[in-house]
Amino acid sequence: MTVTNIKRIGVMTSGGDAPGMNACIRAVVRTAAYYNIECYGILHGYQGMIDNKIFKLESNDVANIIQRGGTILKTSRSEQFMTAEGRKIAYDNLTKFGIDGLVLIGGDGTFRGAQVFYDEHKIPSVGIPGTIDKDLAGTDFTIGYDTAINTVIDAIDKIRDTADAHDRMFFVEVMGRDAGFIALSSGISVGAEAVLIPETHTYIDQLISKIENGYRRKKLCHIIVVAEGDDAGGAVKVAELVKEKFDHIETRVSVLGHMQRGGSPSCNDRLLASRLGYASVVALLEGKHNYMVGVINDKIAYTPLSQANKQEPTINDELLKLVEVLST
Ligand code: F6P
Repeated sequence: MTVTNIKRIGVMTSGGDAPGMNACIRAVVRTAAYYNIECYGILHGYQGMIDNKIFKLESNDVANIIQRGGTILKTSRSEQFMTAEGRKIAYDNLTKFGIDGLVLIGGDGTFRGAQVFYDEHKIPSVGIPGTIDKDLAGTDFTIGYDTAINTVIDAIDKIRDTADAHDRMFFVEVMGRDAGFIALSSGISVGAEAVLIPETHTYIDQLISKIENGYRRKKLCHIIVVAEGDDAGGAVKVAELVKEKFDHIETRVSVLGHMQRGGSPSCNDRLLASRLGYASVVALLEGKHNYMVGVINDKIAYTPLSQANKQEPTINDELLKLVEVLST
């Protein structure tokens, strides 16, 4: 490994939390310790840089966190960091600690902040994709996604029990303000009748005929999975529109909400978090600065932070077809 002169790094989590962030922090701290680099934790993301909430992290400080959801470093979305004045204060604070490299665990907003920060103050960063939405270019998976979809299928399996007992139609809203990955993967896995996602236009008429077909062949309970960012509105709105046509059927809405962001990370998320945490420190040391580390085809991949944006619609058409065919 070609080693740069980086001696002290800071690590933080930013944006929406995701299960596996703690496993990732642990990997960053332990990798730094392995390579004799000092590591500092920054509380509450960019806001903590501004508020000087920076403290030394040793190997022992990250014991017993690999299995915990949330983030021991807390998180936030900082308005102040969006101003040049805020970023200057953040830079001055990092300088006091001699921090010369950053590991940032978050989403595209976090990475945009890192680029501006580098342009102004030249502190190099490596980003790690941490979001349950899985909506970043440059990686096949993001930390938290696998746990979130498993949380969703666990919840919907339970909803199906009661839907079946009452012969009811359920509209279940899952997270995904801009992306339908959670809705589509979980929808297929719970055998949903339909999955509505932001990437495709929702035709309520088509949904209604699909449900009518189901009743014609004596299907008595229906589960419709709706991503919160679907263009027809959330589950409450879609349920209202559909209910007008099925006034003899009982319908219910269940909004799963923030439970999707919590919980103990799955094995896949712990493994991904550990691999990316390690890779981020190595990347900083090797001089691969201002990249996001991700995993593509099971190999570590480096994408310039400028390109690690929210993905263009890349929903797999094959999966959309699966929903249609398997709910017949
Ligand atoms: O973490 C991403 C996400 O789950 C989105 O799908 C959702 O819209 C958003 O976070 C909500 O986050 P918050 O309630 O923290 O603003």
